[in-house]
Amino acid sequence: MFSITEYLTDEHRECDELYAKVERLVSEERWQEAVKAFGEFRDETLRHFQKEEDVLFPEFEGRTGIVMGPTQVMRMEHAQARELISRMGEALEKKDKRAFLSVGETFMILIQQHNMKEEQILYPMCDQHLDAPEVVQKMEAL
Ligand SMILES: [Fe+2]
Ligand SMILES: [Fe+2]
Repeated sequence: MFSITEYLTDEHRECDELYAKVERLVSEERWQEAVKAFGEFRDETLRHFQKEEDVLFPEFEGRTGIVMGPTQVMRMEHAQARELISRMGEALEKKDKRAFLSVGETFMILIQQHNMKEEQILYPMCDQHLDAPEVVQKMEAL
C-alpha cells in the first residue's frame, strides 16, 4: 500500500510529463495533437487538485484542527493554477504559441514550488496524522 506522499507525488510526476508533452507539441506547432494533449494535462491536474481539496485537506484539517495554515495556502495556489490553465487554453485556441509558452512557464514555476511544499511538508504531515490507506482509497474513489 502507498503512503499519501508516494501516491500524490507520483501524480505530480505524471502531470509534469503531460505538461512537457503539450509544451513540445506547441513548440512544434502541432496544434491538433497539442489540443488533445492539453485536455489530458488539464483533466489530470484538475482531478489531482480535487483529490486534495475534497479529501486530503478536509481530513488534515479535521484531524489536526489546523484550518488557517498550509491547506489554506495550497487552496489559494490551486486557484492561481486554475486561472493559468484557463489562460493556456485560450492561447491554445488562438494558436498563439508565444502566449501559451509564456503562461506555461509561469504555471510551471508556480506548480513546482507548490508541489515541493506539498511533498516536503504537507504530505509527510498527512502521513503522520492520518490513516494513509483509508485516505488514498477515498481519493481513488472520487
Ligand atoms: Fe496541491
Ligand atoms: Fe499536489
